Amino acid sequence: MNIDVKKGLIAEMKTQALILPFCEEDKKLSAEALAVDRKTAGMISRLIKNGDFEAKLSQVSVFQVSADCPFEKVALLGLGKRKELTLDKVRRAVSKGMQTLRDGKVRHAALAFGSEFMSGEGAGLYFAAAEGAILGLYQFTPYKTLARNEIKSIDTLRFIVPAASLAGAKAEVRKAGIISRAVCFTRDLVSTPGNDMTPSILADHAKKLAGRKNLSCTILDRKKMKSLGMNALLGVASGSCQEPRFIILEYRGGKRGSAPIVLVGKGLTFDSGGISLKPAEKMDEMKTDMAGGAAVLGAIMAAADLQLPINVVGLVPATENMPGGCAYKPGDILTSYSGLTIEVLNTDAEGRLILADALAFAKTFKPVAVIDIATLTGACVIALGEDVAAVLGNDEALKNQIKAASEMTGEKVWELPLWELYDEQIKSEIADYKNTGGRPAGTITAATFLSKFAGDGPWVHLDIAGPAWKTKANDYIPKGASGIGVRLFVEFLEKRAGK
Ligand code: BES
Ligand code: MN
Ligand code: ZN
Repeated sequence: MNIDVKKGLIAEMKTQALILPFCEEDKKLSAEALAVDRKTAGMISRLIKNGDFEAKLSQVSVFQVSADCPFEKVALLGLGKRKELTLDKVRRAVSKGMQTLRDGKVRHAALAFGSEFMSGEGAGLYFAAAEGAILGLYQFTPYKTLARNEIKSIDTLRFIVPAASLAGAKAEVRKAGIISRAVCFTRDLVSTPGNDMTPSILADHAKKLAGRKNLSCTILDRKKMKSLGMNALLGVASGSCQEPRFIILEYRGGKRGSAPIVLVGKGLTFDSGGISLKPAEKMDEMKTDMAGGAAVLGAIMAAADLQLPINVVGLVPATENMPGGCAYKPGDILTSYSGLTIEVLNTDAEGRLILADALAFAKTFKPVAVIDIATLTGACVIALGEDVAAVLGNDEALKNQIKAASEMTGEKVWELPLWELYDEQIKSEIADYKNTGGRPAGTITAATFLSKFAGDGPWVHLDIAGPAWKTKANDYIPKGASGIGVRLFVEFLEKRAGK
């Protein structure tokens, strides 16, 4: 979908569907709405007066207009109470409005915020609306060959704005487009099945990103990883016929020599559990076990497209976890890149192994901060559910920056403690650590394990096992891959870049 911004008279817009947002208080029509009302024989005022349209959040009332109008339909869109309006509510409502129109076979729509919305000029109204539209209309369809012509989509969304808002709205829409398309890129990677999203294919996607200004990509193969001593990662990879890859993306948009932020994403392109095999039910969902890695690729893509003035390194250890004849086994002891030894008690706790090597390797970039993101524990889904990511870390300021970014983007995070008392659960009798701490506090002990490899510098861990893959649609996140982490990271990086 293409989004453009035009100035002009709303009531004169040539489009299939005119979207008019309202708040509950808007009983008196704005000048713009009044003009449309006149063109439509008073339909808007009647719908409001009759109580058919109350402007409750995400309420959509569509009506057909007579043939002499330049537009075919009008969609009244509820934004709820004005005092309670947030950017996330704008995203949610616009997404709902666009989905409703798409399902009604609309291909061209125009949206106009009335003058009553213009008080908070530059407050991100167009940004949020554009995000809601793109994210909410996302569909993953490349594997559908039957009845492709029945797939509905909207080609164009036009924002009609007052002349004074033109430049600001264009800038907001441009930024929203870059970020939302990065989210959709991440969703595509996550949705793609394991047979078409192997570690090498994921690495190819990373290489393609590197055509961008200030962005370079290096891929380490098995031999290179072996010579570096990444034996925790290689242990996980040993049961698979697919070659592992270690993806390094370096975006240098900041000052030369200024220390980078390193983002590390779990890139398990399929997690069968390995010898500690998972049950068959829902194992298919483990194609999404690279959602953290995909979020890192999406975030770096957006950072480069926005040319943020900051240095960022993305690391994605990528492998399958399979129960092949050469697979690593319960009881094996692996010597990780850091030199610390790990007793493998469960081959299904593989994410922390590949992250252990990646986090230790991250230190070679002398970072100011390290953030990892991973579909790490089923326990996290039990603790926080499908909509919320866990955040844990060793640095209050960094955690607070992530929480602040989360407030802005609506990607919910909640902190769990990383107290020393959990160390006991991951001590091994014969090695330094074991790779599981048992069922109690599973998310925390996984993070405790990671902390041993992340070291003392500022580090935060995000467990996205819940929100990476949605079993039901919600608002602007359709069922399936959510792309969580991309918008959070971009918001965080923007703030760090001082923009
Ligand atoms: N990738 C899984 C975690 C997961 C589960 C993500 C469900 C999304 C949905 C991870 O590798 C895993 O298997 N973790 C184990 C750890 C356990 C063996 C200590 C788990 O959570 O059961
Ligand atoms: Mn696993
Ligand atoms: Zn996993």
